[in-house]
Amino acid sequence: MTIQFRHVLVLHGPNLNLLGVREPDVYGSVTLETINQQLTARAHAAGIHLDVFQSNSEGALIDRLHQAREEGVGFVIINPAGLTHTSVSLRDALAAVDIPFIEVHLSNIYRREAFRHVSFFSDLALGVICGLGWQGYLLALDFVLNGSFVNGPAQA
Ligand code: DQA
Repeated sequence: MTIQFRHVLVLHGPNLNLLGVREPDVYGSVTLETINQQLTARAHAAGIHLDVFQSNSEGALIDRLHQAREEGVGFVIINPAGLTHTSVSLRDALAAVDIPFIEVHLSNIYRREAFRHVSFFSDLALGVICGLGWQGYLLALDFVLNGSFVNGPAQA
């Protein structure tokens, strides 16, 4: 089955600009630039337009989601980072724009401190990938590109 939309947005939350140097034992040594390059190359090979956006500001991430609705973005892949565990406002923005999304975390948040076990996003997400490092982003994108989303998770 063919994909019914042509535009994917990848959102990276606070501190993810420091990937590669930030706690590499937890988050790995791959930089955000490399992750974004890999995602962009894979999307372009599939004929999909992919935008990436990172911000350390909650408001900027919310504004980018509002913009995504106007742009007709069909799918969002988001790592809300620390906002995962705190942000009602970013959650509300995802609900408001009503764009399906996958939540990604590099680390397995359930193997870490108790405060990281709560996500304000997971119950709205189509799916959650955590603990698989930077490849989690590629797996999320592959799910979208191979038509699994259009077919529905039950047939994936
Ligand atoms: C993270 C996990 C969060 O708990 C943390 O605040 C992050 C990154 C991850 O990708 O593993 O900044 O979302």
